[in-house]
Amino acid sequence: MAEETYSPATTEWYYPPDEVVENAHVPDYEAVYKEAMQDIEGFWAKRAETLDWYEKWDQVLDRSQAPFYKWFVGGKTNITLNALDRHVQTWRKNKLALIWEGEPGDKKTFSYWRLWQETNKFANVLRGMGVKKGDRVTIYMGRVPELVIAMLACAKIGAIHSVVYGGFSEQALADRIEDAQSRVLVTCDGAWLRGDIVRLKDTVDEAVRRSPVVETVIVVKRTGHEVNMEHGRDYWYHDLMSLPIATPVCETQVMNAEDPLFILYTSGTTGKPKGVLHTHGGYQVYTATTLQWVFDIKDEDRWWCAADPGWITGHSYIVYAPLILGATGFMYEGAPTYPYPNRWWKMIEEYGITILYTAPTAIRGLMRFGDAWPNRHDLSSLRLLGSVGEPINPEAWRWYYKVIGKERCPIMDTWWQTETGGFMITPLPSVPLKPGSATRPFPGIEVDVVDEEGNSCGPNEDGKLVIKQPWPSMLRTVYGDPDRYVSQYWSEYKKQGWYLAGDSARKDEDGYIWVIGRIDDVLKVSGYRLGTAEVESGLVSHPKVAEAAVIGVPDELKGNIIYAYCILAAGLEGSDALVDELKNHVRHEVGPIAVPARIEFVDKLPKTRSGKIMRRVLKARALGQPEGDLSTLES
Ligand code: WTA
Repeated sequence: MAEETYSPATTEWYYPPDEVVENAHVPDYEAVYKEAMQDIEGFWAKRAETLDWYEKWDQVLDRSQAPFYKWFVGGKTNITLNALDRHVQTWRKNKLALIWEGEPGDKKTFSYWRLWQETNKFANVLRGMGVKKGDRVTIYMGRVPELVIAMLACAKIGAIHSVVYGGFSEQALADRIEDAQSRVLVTCDGAWLRGDIVRLKDTVDEAVRRSPVVETVIVVKRTGHEVNMEHGRDYWYHDLMSLPIATPVCETQVMNAEDPLFILYTSGTTGKPKGVLHTHGGYQVYTATTLQWVFDIKDEDRWWCAADPGWITGHSYIVYAPLILGATGFMYEGAPTYPYPNRWWKMIEEYGITILYTAPTAIRGLMRFGDAWPNRHDLSSLRLLGSVGEPINPEAWRWYYKVIGKERCPIMDTWWQTETGGFMITPLPSVPLKPGSATRPFPGIEVDVVDEEGNSCGPNEDGKLVIKQPWPSMLRTVYGDPDRYVSQYWSEYKKQGWYLAGDSARKDEDGYIWVIGRIDDVLKVSGYRLGTAEVESGLVSHPKVAEAAVIGVPDELKGNIIYAYCILAAGLEGSDALVDELKNHVRHEVGPIAVPARIEFVDKLPKTRSGKIMRRVLKARALGQPEGDLSTLES
């Protein structure tokens, strides 16, 4: 599979049906791309004019402090003005904003009116607890509507949310709380997953013990099991929401376009989490435009982005962009295969989902169960499909296209990152597709594949993916660490002023981009982004481990799986029991997604003379490949 993923350009073309092209928001990609590139700022200004602002901007783009770019300078807005407030003034007030199904089968729906009211109530609760503009609120929850409400409520009052994915554990959560200095944390008692309860509140208790900066914990009752509630610190969400202060009207905080909206921690090359910062103005313009054009969102659609709101995909395309567009979104709490592998297909049929956006790992996982499961259901409501998170292997692409989309639904393979805020390289419905390629840059985006010196690579030559012009939803900084922002993204091609994506890629003779994978120590496991350093620090925090090195090894289902190599503390011997103990330890410290598939005990790790672990050598060994140039290896 890995081989096929990284294959050079294919001549296999898939053309969109005429009616898809004719009815699309953008029927001619080439023309719009060309037009946008002639005047990038004018292009984005026009897009921004489709949204509401309290005050219009004076300047579209300020480059004077590059790479600290500023967009829509002087503009005043609030993303919830566009996501909620404006809709309740129109017929959309009574349109469904969110349809939700819990894993046990319970259902909830929210019209725009109701979502607006619930958001206002919770915003008033937060204000009542002293949360002010600029304060950071950490959100650590399962996939429930209150998560969306909590995010919107923060945005409404100008607080900065930091959502931590519910699959992270104690230490990962504690680090993120600490870095953001959050005094308030919103969580659930638990979350349903595969019929079991994930005990989120227990994890919170331990994380807060490690990061005592948290003064208040608000707990949504979801699973209803017994949890510890600390007097004076922990409050039930439903109790607070029934207090007199929780009125359904709340004034929206007027924000500068460049005021922070959220921090989202993501993995980089060191163990320390990196808080990617996004702002109100540019982010709303970019996410709404990309969703509308790529997935061709119309009022009658039922949009399902099956990601977790705890990752950027959920922030941009479950919460903000669909609401800004006044769309109806669907959200599902649990596992795709619970109780049977037809759960997703059943819900598509039941809710009449028209667009499904998911990750290759989920597609491969469902493909394993065979065609009979989807074939039992009427999937004819679908009109577009999407993929994100890692390169999609052509085999999975074809299955998705044939068995799910019945060869009618073009697949939008969207390449982007936490840092980019929205889709960067992606087809529009009018673009002919090649399975495995994210195709072409979005209008207004200039990307290239370049060599070390910055020369454009020839067709099908491996190089580094760079973005050559700023875009409205670009990250503004790494929270609290502007130097890291500059060194991480802008130092490699400093002279040219290009953004380094951290991926390797190829461009074929048709200008189609084929993303290969990360060039740094970032792993994509089941589409989730993890740093080798995070897993390594999880391992060495166990008293029996002296040193650890972690690599990603290609896997048919998960894209990559984790192999770990550990040097034990002096005098200790490895055993199967210790392997289990260490896996369990990582599960607790970092999270289930970080658990290595294999742990090997070694006496020595390959290192450079300066002491850096040569993961490349470990990877070659694991794959039985030649180890390459070892001249820098410590003897
Ligand atoms: C990878 C997820 C190939 C890539 C939105 C990128 C992809 C990283 C694709 C960002 C795709 C994402 N094809 N690779 N369609 N989409 N990637 O921050 O390596 O979790 O740099 O954002 O995922 O992961 P992140």
